Amino acid sequence: LGQQRSVGPLAGKKVVVTAGPTREFIDPVRYISNPSSGKMGIAMAEAARDLGGEVTLVHGPIQIPAPNKMNAIQITSTDDLFKEVQKQSSADIIIMAAAVADFTPETHATSKIKKNGKAPSLKLRRTPDILSWLGEHKKKGQTLIGFAMETEKLIEHAGEKRTRKKADWIIANSIADDKSGFGTDTNTVTLLGDAVQETYSGPKKVVARKVLDRIFSS
Ligand code: CTP
Ligand code: CA
Repeated sequence: LGQQRSVGPLAGKKVVVTAGPTREFIDPVRYISNPSSGKMGIAMAEAARDLGGEVTLVHGPIQIPAPNKMNAIQITSTDDLFKEVQKQSSADIIIMAAAVADFTPETHATSKIKKNGKAPSLKLRRTPDILSWLGEHKKKGQTLIGFAMETEKLIEHAGEKRTRKKADWIIANSIADDKSGFGTDTNTVTLLGDAVQETYSGPKKVVARKVLDRIFSS
């Protein structure tokens, strides 16, 4: 972006980073979502920018402003995110850090559901798996990086996601302690790649930089 030519291992590379939660509206005043703050995704976007990448941040509703020197696109639902990522899918590097909702209401009421009458039952459908779609449509030379958030069997489940979704790298994120996961400023992650398994711990910004250094500077 801008006139300066960037330097670093990602100079000239287009990087798409997704961050934050998605919202799946039930009616105009209610939605299904998750506690993602977007901090880890933003940390990844900043690290990619600082390594010279030309970054587009596609983010759901978050409280923190998008960092400078990158394009920012706001989305709401998983379907919106999927459309935007498909548009950007020729990028050199795609990092799926968004906490994507797995289920969405089958129907979206256009007027508010009133509480008189009996409590409604929600019929849900699966959302598209964006990372799997990217894995199926991977461009030559493209690097695909996903996350995996797990409460148990972190490495096993994350490794299985790497294979199944055809991602080059998975950043396994435990939410087992209060210094990791949703909303915190710190994190502990394990980077999984082809014969790579390395754990990093610290502020999200530091962890993000270490992960990208490991992937792109060695
Ligand atoms: N992901 C995605 N599209 C979805 C759900 C998840 O692209 N509909 C991506 C996330 O952004 C993340 C990775 O897939 O990079 C793993 O997300 P996670 O929630 O850990 O795994 P799921 O495949 O959704 O499986 P589950 O939640 O059942 O563990
Ligand atoms: Ca999920």
